[in-house]
Amino acid sequence: MNNNFSLALIGCGKWGLNHLKTATKLFGEDLKLVCDLNSNSKNTVKQIAPFVSFTTSIQEVIQNKKINSCIVATPASTHFEIGKKLLQNGKHVLIEKPMTLRSDESRILAKIADENNLILMVGHLLLYHPAINEIKKIIKDDKIGQLQYIYSNRLNLGTIRTEENVLWSFAPHDVAILQYLTDSYPIQITSKGASFLNKNIEDTTLTMFSYPNNIHAHIFVSWLHPFKEHRIIVIGSKGMLMFDDVEKQNKLKFYSKGFNYSELGSLEKFDESEITIPYSAEVSPLEEELKDFKNSIKLNKIPIANSKHAIEVLTILEEAERNMKNA
Ligand SMILES: NC(=O)c1ccc[n+]([C@@H]2O[C@H](COP(=O)([O-])OP(=O)(O)OC[C@H]3O[C@@H](n4cnc5c(N)ncnc54)[C@H](O)[C@@H]3O)[C@@H](O)[C@H]2O)c1
Repeated sequence: MNNNFSLALIGCGKWGLNHLKTATKLFGEDLKLVCDLNSNSKNTVKQIAPFVSFTTSIQEVIQNKKINSCIVATPASTHFEIGKKLLQNGKHVLIEKPMTLRSDESRILAKIADENNLILMVGHLLLYHPAINEIKKIIKDDKIGQLQYIYSNRLNLGTIRTEENVLWSFAPHDVAILQYLTDSYPIQITSKGASFLNKNIEDTTLTMFSYPNNIHAHIFVSWLHPFKEHRIIVIGSKGMLMFDDVEKQNKLKFYSKGFNYSELGSLEKFDESEITIPYSAEVSPLEEELKDFKNSIKLNKIPIANSKHAIEVLTILEEAERNMKNA
């Protein structure tokens, strides 16, 4: 495996711009080339990173032997074809979420990456969020006891998409978090959706999950909500956690709340204290994600947002979608 790090960014639209800024900050001139079909992007790229070359041709990226690593931030429908070409030409690849639109396509990409000893990872940004990592640590350290229920609300009066429903637009992040926190695979998935604005494109979905060991979860996502809510609640037998990403401060709270059997055998509520858990809020999830990409290449290690994880998330979304359409 070529362990050098020489990077190209493909797709420099709304989100790709964040990659450009972050990669420039972290890697400087190791970012060699930006490719976007839209030649108007060139000016913006040159303003942010004057030393970077610009092209509208993906062939130029593929044929550039000095470039061994690529970030793909083009629309989801292009991820499979672009990812395949890059991997077949020996490049390590970080593809934005969703890795592909179908899990079998991601399986193909993972196979090509494995056969050629290349890193393939997905932009599941929240796995690099310091609060999510703090929650994972608290669960692992047994501070909330046996995991019982997790739910995530991702609601906003946001951009209404016409190519994908709200499940595929919002829930990949939440499914990724459920997989990361439970470290297991759901044994049952049921989903209900409703379409109000575009026929057959659900703008509101509620998906329920049962995991082994009596762990349950749900994800509620909607474009039709009067205010922005990004909230994750984790319930354990000894305590509960709330992460509220809309709050400016004190986003992560621990509640010492729950029920115990009393000496007489009845259920009694215990202590109700509530404390804010500090975490390193200055850590940028996108910086952590890009550092993981580079380190995985340098050290030949498996990234946190690896292809196996990406395939699991897509398979779960597909099952939820099937269940919803058959309901
Ligand atoms: N991780 C996150 O939190 C997060 C957030 C937003 C978007 N995204 C993902 O990032 C990706 C891009 O989203 P966006 O909102 O930036 O879209 P966008 O439409 O703003 O930008 C896409 C860019 O890709 C370019 N492009 C399209 N086809 C191309 C090709 N074949 N070769 C080169 N360039 C091409 C377009 O010209 C455009 O500039 C999507 O997969 C989206 O889901 C991830």
